[in-house]
Amino acid sequence: MKVLVAGKGGTGKTTIAATLAYILSESGYKVLVLDTDSVPNTAVTLGVPIEEAVEITPLTMNERLVEERTGAKPGEGWGLFFALNPKVDDIAEKYGIRLSENLGLVVVGSIDASKQGCLCPAIALARQFLRHMLTAREEIVLVDSEAGAEVFGRGLAEYFDLMFCISEPTLKSLDISIKLVKMAEELSIKQNVILVNKVKDEELARRLCNKILGEKYRWHLIHYDENVERVDYEGKPIRDIPRESIVFKDLKAVIRSETPWIRVR
Ligand SMILES: Nc1ncnc2c1ncn2[C@@H]1O[C@H](COP(=O)(O)OP(=O)(O)OP(=O)(O)O)[C@@H](O)[C@H]1O
Ligand SMILES: [Mg+2]
Repeated sequence: MKVLVAGKGGTGKTTIAATLAYILSESGYKVLVLDTDSVPNTAVTLGVPIEEAVEITPLTMNERLVEERTGAKPGEGWGLFFALNPKVDDIAEKYGIRLSENLGLVVVGSIDASKQGCLCPAIALARQFLRHMLTAREEIVLVDSEAGAEVFGRGLAEYFDLMFCISEPTLKSLDISIKLVKMAEELSIKQNVILVNKVKDEELARRLCNKILGEKYRWHLIHYDENVERVDYEGKPIRDIPRESIVFKDLKAVIRSETPWIRVR
């Protein structure tokens, strides 16, 4: 199963991707998380100590790797000619971080040309790597995507089985999510689910979602969880949150309802 976690900035993409990663890996599934944010922070959320996390070079920033695989030389404007189908099948193992027996992470970096200063060979390498991860791997792949890098576009989006669009319980945020879901449908992502996160007033949120999303969209409420705020405040990983905590409970219910073929503990 290949899952895209998308949505507007600050809605909770990284928190939810990390929580899903723990739920699935602790239920016995092999899980690989890919961070495609230009400001990567999934590693810290997944428990990599901050001193180590700052030393991680995203694939798109790894000039030596990009040069080795694409033939483009940095410092020479990267050249006009570079390989469009670089070798990528060993990258997850060589450049990935093993967090537990079942859980791995690769910090890819942004594939958005405008945010990357258009290092075209680097983006070509990252896209090829993502394509490989989405088509040739057995494990569950969770992509923590960048806000606004609208669902990756053609050539990648269609390989996702499921998009979780993270939203907040406000009219504006739900409107943006509806746009993102429509875009994802056009790009042939099969299953699109809106997760309305950080819900404090369930009654109010449910009324708003019934009105705006109704039966037309798949949606679930994820409640505001003080434990999430606490670990974030202390710079601790999501792993430290008790498993009976609200985000874990809510997201397990989402998995049971949307992907019942996956058995979670
Ligand atoms: N269910 C929740 N309960 C309480 N706080 C939450 C919840 N989900 C997310 N948060 C908090 O909201 C903030 C944003 O979360 P997060 O970093 O996961 O969002 P994001 O969408 O990945 O942001 P960005 O667009 O910057 O990557 C964080 O402070 C996080 O702790
Ligand atoms: Mg994030």
